[in-house]
This record gives sequence, structure tokens and C-alpha cells, in this order.
Amino acid sequence: MRIAIVGATGEVGRMMLKKLEEENIPAEVIDLYASSRSVGKKFTLKDKTLEVVELREDSFDRGYDYVLFSAGASISRHYSPIAAEKGALVIDNSSAFRSDAEVPLVVPEINGFLVKGYKGIIANPNCSTIQMVLSLSGIYRRYGVKTIVVSTYQAVSGAGNKGVAELEKQEAGEIVSTVFIRQIHRNVVPVIGDLLETGFSTEEMKMVNETRKIFGDDSISVWPTTVRVPVAHGHSESIFVETIEPFTLDGLKSVIENSENVVYSEDHLTPLEVAGSDLVYVSRLRTFDSSRFLFWNIADNIRVGAATNAVRIMKAHMGGA
Ligand SMILES: NC(=O)c1ccc[n+]([C@@H]2O[C@H](COP(=O)([O-])OP(=O)(O)OC[C@H]3O[C@@H](n4cnc5c(N)ncnc54)[C@H](OP(=O)(O)O)[C@@H]3O)[C@@H](O)[C@H]2O)c1
Repeated sequence: MRIAIVGATGEVGRMMLKKLEEENIPAEVIDLYASSRSVGKKFTLKDKTLEVVELREDSFDRGYDYVLFSAGASISRHYSPIAAEKGALVIDNSSAFRSDAEVPLVVPEINGFLVKGYKGIIANPNCSTIQMVLSLSGIYRRYGVKTIVVSTYQAVSGAGNKGVAELEKQEAGEIVSTVFIRQIHRNVVPVIGDLLETGFSTEEMKMVNETRKIFGDDSISVWPTTVRVPVAHGHSESIFVETIEPFTLDGLKSVIENSENVVYSEDHLTPLEVAGSDLVYVSRLRTFDSSRFLFWNIADNIRVGAATNAVRIMKAHMGGA
């Protein structure tokens, strides 16, 4: 199998390479692409050293079975169709194609059936959305979901290498804010993405639109507030849900415990404890009645929210193609 990673030097691209290794994906070729700035950078995969080369339009002439894109939306818009045209199955981690009706938006545990035999571009959802829909998938199937109110506490790695670098510089005393709209060290920033005329941000609208698309249900009412916090890795979410059918707390716990790649915990988990895991962790489950509940939902954003989901899409396609 021949695989390429575009954006291989990024937070997500580096993790994609690691996931290919962890999952023992049988690849005869793994090529790494990034910008001219990164040419010659080296990464290791098992006993091999791989060198980054510059992305060009003719890069895909080398012929790939899978190309994992993680270099931002404008790079994806330009280069993903070229890769797909040359015969690769493209798994795109950017927002470029997520709302395109023709492009499947996939979380394999929920709608993995969409990838079977698929050719072209598959979109990987936004990080905060993936971990939320994974925890809600069993609940959705068992009780139905009417309303979701979610507040996120998103790590700086969600803004890529430059987000991590900005927090580290500020921790070292250099308070310059170019990535985040305010100082992030010793602070929280209540806007992620661009603000729209409605007052919602682009990051918040991703959670609204992508949740509906993944469940295939436009009737779900989603009310998000997305917030950046000075955490390196691991997004947290406080989630309020109103169901259609009544539940019991024990019923909810059992459904969550039986959801694929989701762990229910009676402990009070924090991002530091889940960074490095490929699972989503649900804790602090609580309710006042039988139709509404609250919980705390955390996951490693670079793994669950990006690279792990992309490699799970690839594995689902390999199994069903
Ligand atoms: N971080 C997350 O939690 C997360 C989660 C879900 C989705 N995403 C999405 O994944 C994508 C990448 O995110 P990231 O966090 O990994 O960003 P990042 O750390 O900033 O990395 C960006 C990558 O894109 C490459 N790149 C930039 N300009 C390029 C060009 N002109 N040609 C080729 N490669 C170029 C960079 O290469 P150089 O090093 O050479 O500049 C780098 O490898 C974004 O679309 C983001 O929205 C991120």
C-alpha cells in the first residue's frame, strides 16, 4: 500500500504518522509532504527514516492508495481534488469539504458504512465535534436527542504548532498574542474562529452543522460556546442534553459504557489524564429528571479529534473497499 501525509510536520500530521505505526498499517511507501520550509526534516517510522519533501501539484503522480491531508483548508481545496483525480482515497482533516453535500463526513463508529467502496474525498470532522458525537452516539440511538448545549475548553494544540508555541512563549514571559485574540497564559479566551453576524463563531457553527450531518438529523438543536484554555493537549466539554425518550441514570450509564471507543468513569477526569489516549472519557454524569442530563466529556484532540479518526476511516475503507 502507498500512503502520503500532507502537512506531515504539523500537530496532526506528526500524529498521523505515529498512528500508522501504532496500527501496523501495512505500507510499502509512506511519503511526507509539507511546505518548502520543512524540506529535509526527518521523521522515523519503526526502523525507517522518512524525509519531508515539498508539496507540488505533481506530487500525486507517484500514485497513492491513501492521502491524508492535514495542512489547512486552502491547501486541501487546491490539492485534494488533484490527489483524488490521480486515484487516491483522500481523507481530509481540514474544514474544506465538510459541508459539501457530496462529501461524506465520517466518524467510523457512527457512519462508517459510508466509506465502503468509496472513491474520492472523505472529510474528517472538527475535533470538538468528533469527541461529542462519539459520547452521544449510543444515547442518540437509544433515546433520541432533541437539544445539545455544549461549552468547550479547547487545548492550544487545536490551533496547531503555532498555538502550542504561543502558549510556551507566554509561559516563558513573552506576552505577544498573534494566534489567539487575547493572552492565553493564565487566561481563557471565549472566541475560537471568526465571529459571524449572528454572534456565533465559525468554530461553533462547525459543531452545529457537523453534528447534524454525522447523525443525518437536521432536527437536533445544538447550542455551542467554544472557548480556548491554556492546556497543551486534550479538549474538555461540558455537555447538556435533552432527549426525546425518557431515560434512567443507570440506563444512560449502561448505554455510554457500551459505546465503542468511549469510557464511562465515576472519577473526575482532566485533560492531563487522557492526553495520549485514543478513547473519549465521560464523567460527572448527572440529572434532575428523566429527559435532561449533564456530563463532562474529554479526549485527546490530536488523536481522537483528528489523527485517530482519520486512520480509523482509512482502516474502515481498507476493510470494506
Ligand atoms: N490541531 C487539531 O487539534 C486539529 C483537529 C482537527 C482538525 N485540524 C485541522 O488539521 C489541519 C492541520 O492542523 P494542525 O493543527 O496540524 O496545523 P499545524 O500544526 O499548523 O500544521 C500545518 C501543516 O500544514 C503544512 N503546510 C502549511 N502550508 C503548507 C503549504 N503551502 N504546502 C504544504 N504544506 C503546508 C505545514 O507545513 P510546514 O511545517 O512546512 O509549515 C504543517 O505540516 C488544519 O486544517 C486544522 O484545522 C486540526
